[in-house]
Amino acid sequence: MTRVRKAVLPAAGLGTRNQPAAKATPKNLLNVFDRPMIAHVVAEGRAAGIEHFVVIVGRGQGAIEDYFDHAVELEQGLAERGRAELLEILNDELLGPGQMSFVRQMAPLGLGHAVWCARDVIGDEPFAVMLPDMLMAANPGALSQAMAAHEAVGGNIVVVEPAPEGETHKYGIVALGAETPGFDGRLRAMTGMVEKPPLGTEPSNLLISGRYILQPGIFDALAQHAKGAGGEIQLTDAMVARLAHEPFHALEYEGTTYDCGDALGLLRANVAFALRHTGAGDQARAAVRDLLGAL
Ligand code: G1P
Repeated sequence: MTRVRKAVLPAAGLGTRNQPAAKATPKNLLNVFDRPMIAHVVAEGRAAGIEHFVVIVGRGQGAIEDYFDHAVELEQGLAERGRAELLEILNDELLGPGQMSFVRQMAPLGLGHAVWCARDVIGDEPFAVMLPDMLMAANPGALSQAMAAHEAVGGNIVVVEPAPEGETHKYGIVALGAETPGFDGRLRAMTGMVEKPPLGTEPSNLLISGRYILQPGIFDALAQHAKGAGGEIQLTDAMVARLAHEPFHALEYEGTTYDCGDALGLLRANVAFALRHTGAGDQARAAVRDLLGAL
């Protein structure tokens, strides 16, 4: 089976639900405790064995490229001050030469269009898609869990989880068939999917979480540029088109997702990642207790 080496991170959206926070800062650079949200997702990808990240960016998002490059003045200043431990933290964020590409999505036409923009960089091999505004706290990471499922059954893997009550209409929702043995009922064949179904019409309560492993045939479907929910070119619709050609499995991963697509989700992610932080977790817990006690 061909190994999954590359991941596409669509980061060019307008961030409409994160305004005005994302007006002058790309949404995916908004902070989650100690680093930008996209940096947490890149770390999850590296832990899963991804060797090349393809970040889809839009106009005014050059700061994302800067984040994943050397900051020469900062590094010199830290070196002069003998701050080796901080230099190490900064260096750990950087990938090796040629391990990150940036592709410009010239118009925000939808998630499917963003992924399609990566077609030449991906080529003819399976690849991951990671949505940088969906932070997943899991051990092993959500993409690592998807990789294990992919090694077992091949084809396409879509990571899913139960939707919060009454919120299925905000997500892509899957329809499921037979269970795959050996995964405690968490890995099931998919029979369909629908993007943002009106409430009451959803085929299940399992939402598409934002981690996928896809076969390159998806680019044929995306090339149709068919518009779906919200007038956008949807990845979900392209996956539906590929269902007739290739197996798709939904993996209900073990972990907790934080949807950073609005201020409250970002707050939850910040608190959760602070509490989970190895070095600062105890102090974060005390700080949160203080704040709650003061109210
Ligand atoms: C996208 C996907 C959707 C998925 C969601 C997760 O929607 O189209 O299937 O459930 O991400 O956040 P968006 O959030 O871009 O509207």
